[in-house]
Order: sequence, then C-alpha cells, then structure tokens
Amino acid sequence: MTEDADVTNDAERRNAAANAQWGGRFAAGPSVIMQEINASIGFDQKLWRQDIRGSLAHAAMLAKIGLISAEDEQAIRTGLADIAGEIEAGRFPFAVELEDIHMNIEARLTERIGEAGKRLHTARSRNDQVATDFRLWVRDAIDGLSAQITDVMLALAERAAAYAGDVMPGFTHLQTAQPVTFGHHLLAYVEMLDRDRGRLADCRKRLNVNPLGSAALAGTSFPIDRHMTAAALGFDGPTANSLDAVSDRDFALEFLSAAAISAMHLSRFAEEIVIWCSAPYRFIRLSDAFTTGSSIMPQKRNPDAAELVRAKTGRITGSLVGLLTVMKGLPLAYAKDMQEDKEPVFDAAEAWALSLAAIAGMTRDMTPVLERMRALAGSGFSTATDLADWLVRVLKLPFREAHHVTGRLVAMAEQRAVDLADLSLAEMRSVEAGITDDVFSVLTVDASVASRTSFGGTAPVNVAREAARWCAALQA
Ligand code: ARG
Repeated sequence: MTEDADVTNDAERRNAAANAQWGGRFAAGPSVIMQEINASIGFDQKLWRQDIRGSLAHAAMLAKIGLISAEDEQAIRTGLADIAGEIEAGRFPFAVELEDIHMNIEARLTERIGEAGKRLHTARSRNDQVATDFRLWVRDAIDGLSAQITDVMLALAERAAAYAGDVMPGFTHLQTAQPVTFGHHLLAYVEMLDRDRGRLADCRKRLNVNPLGSAALAGTSFPIDRHMTAAALGFDGPTANSLDAVSDRDFALEFLSAAAISAMHLSRFAEEIVIWCSAPYRFIRLSDAFTTGSSIMPQKRNPDAAELVRAKTGRITGSLVGLLTVMKGLPLAYAKDMQEDKEPVFDAAEAWALSLAAIAGMTRDMTPVLERMRALAGSGFSTATDLADWLVRVLKLPFREAHHVTGRLVAMAEQRAVDLADLSLAEMRSVEAGITDDVFSVLTVDASVASRTSFGGTAPVNVAREAARWCAALQA
C-alpha cells in the first residue's frame, strides 16, 4: 500500500472533483488552502481495506432489498476487488482533490464500472461510512495488540519460571525493603499486562456495533437491513441511535485510554531495565541486539530501546489527551473536527505495537547477574522485618514492640558497619534478653523469601506455581 499519495494540485482537478461529488450546488472548486486543511487522504488511506469491506457489505444489502440489481452488485464487487489489487500493488491514483479514502475509492469505482458505482452511495453517508471503517480498523488493531501483549506476558512468565527461586532486593521508595525473587518481580508485570489485555477486550465488546445505515445523522427512508450489514461485518448488531452512531468516538477514546495505561506499564518496566543495566546496579545485561554504543565513550552500552519505550508513553498519552480535547466541545451530530480522530489513534497504535515488540525482545534477551542481585538482596538490613516477625512469633512480643527492638538492633549493626546476621548473640541479648540462637535462621535472604508463603507472596514455591500456571494459560 502507498502511504504517500501521489497528489497533483491544479485548480482544474479541484474543480472537476468538487463537481463530481457535490457539483449540483457548487460552481467553483475549493481554494488550495481549503483543500489542504480539508483533505484527509494523506492519513486515512490506512482505512482502505475497511472501506472496501464496508462497501461490499452495503452493496450486498442494497441488492438483497432490491435497491440495486444483482448485476450492479456483481459489478461493484469486481470493481472493488480490482481497486484492492491496485492499492496493494501501489498503483492506485490517490487524489487529494477527492479529499478522503471514501471518495477516492468511490470515484475510482465509478471510473471503472460506470453507472453502478454511482448507486453504491444510496442510503449511506460518509458520516456512517467513516464511523464504520474506523471501528473496523480499531477492532483489527485490538486483535493484533492483544496477541502482542500475550506474547510479552509469555516471555515474562517463561523467564519467571526460570528464576522462581533467585533472590533480588525488593524496593519501596527505591530503598532496599525486603528480599523478593526475580521471578516474582517479573510476574508482577504479567499481572499488569493481563489487565491491559482485559481493557482491550472490554473496549472491543462495546466497540462492536454497526453504525452503517445511520446515514448522515437521521437514518434513511430506504428499507435497509442494518442487521444484515452488521452480521456481514462481524458486528454484534446495529447501533440504536443514528445521531449517536455518527458522532460517537468513545471506541477510539477507550482504545487510547487502554493504550495510555499499558504504555505506562511498559514504561515502568523500561525504567527498571535502564536502572538494572546501570553500572551501580548491574542486575542484568542486555546483548548487542538491544543496546547501542557511544560515539565518544568506548565503554558505553546504552539501553536505548528501553529508553525509547519509556519515551513513547509521552506520545501515546498525548494522543489520548488530544482526542479527548477534540471531542469535548462538539454538539451532535457529526462535525469535521472528528476527522482529527485518526492520526492520534494510528500513531498510538504504532507506538504501542513497537513498544510491546521491544519489551518482548528485551525480556528474552536480558541475562540476569544473579550473584549481584543476591549480594544486594542481603544488604541494607533487608531481613529486619523477618527479625521483627521472629520476635512476635517466638517471644510473643506485640508487633510494635518487636519493631522497636529490631530498630535498635539495626542501629547497632549500622554503627558497627555489619549486617544483622553478623551481630553476636550477646549483642542481640543486650537489646532483648529473650533472643536465642534460633533467630539467625530467619536472617538469611533465602529463609526470608521462603517464609513468604502467604497467597500472592514471593516464596519460590508460590512463584514457581504461578509461573507454571501463566505459561500454561498463555500457551493455550
Ligand atoms: N474524511 C471524513 C472524516 O474523516 C469523512 C466524513 C466526512 N463527512 C462530511 N460530512 N464531511 O471524518
């Protein structure tokens, strides 16, 4: 398909095009500026497949109710198939004078098959046509993106299964908090992405109704069968109110909302990848396939793909805010403002797809530096909570008191510049006389994660089970 329309701008062609479409009323064509601000063919060419699908369904319905003859329908079918071939081969003469994809295809059809092409626009308007095409396009995008999200989830779940028992520091406030497993951390993103998939599925459900046949805004006097076109286009049924149908862009906004939330998730993971790759952390390594070098600093290996995923969030969120702003002041029904709905959706869909592909790639590419993660997992008094829990469980101290005792032991260790496990039993007893040797059994990082067996906790048995459950569900 040609993205760059081959366009000519002479006044004669502008006049001729205007004449063919609404020449009954208009004596002259539009000015160059009018044409430039009005035309959408430069970007709505992307809708050509959906436009042809919609026209085929409409023509079949017109033939069934006897508004056009069977021969006309056959001619329309053949003509549209030929046009699809032309567009696919990059031979279609896109004309900016013909404004948008709907008029480009219709004009070409009439050029090829004559009279029958002129009957196709009976009982429809570009207003219901564009609403239909755009819904179909967003629906296709949803299906593709859902499959991509599933792939990222699978990549994460497979790596989580491999590292279900490998410890890393868990953070809150980016301060060492408690040890967790690397697998547990990766599965957190699987949960987020599963909600993203759910949002897309939810958007698809509400999107899947057919505006075709709402005509310009009021419906039509022709005895059309909107259930028939709905079924042909895979919609669950026709929209119920013609005014709403031609002016509703909720499906695009819901899609962009889902995109913005998902992009935010991907950006958080991307940010972690950037942090993990940095020299002070060194939790993971990315290969040459997902890094770039520096033109001046030979030692550099930069996580550019992760940084760009983080940045794409900006344009995706911008698309949502942009379209919300376009829509917020529009009285019913259609207004030309709504032509500005497509570019943000196309742009966000592309950025989202690319981000998902990059995250899938980096997830499969990354090599965790397990000994480094383990070393840092034990630093920063990360098992202090385990010590407090031991005081509660074994000595029956109230938690608040146990917290206080542990705080004093941490202060003591900090002052001596050692870890909690390096304090002697005598030192511990100087703070709380009841402490016994048994306390040391809970101060290792492995004991810490192994003890977190509560539902949803980081214990390796939990993580291995969850990772296996996800892998099975995602491969099904
Ligand atoms: N290109 C237009 C759009 O994208 C198609 C609908 C035009 N309708 C109209 N009444 N001018 O919205």
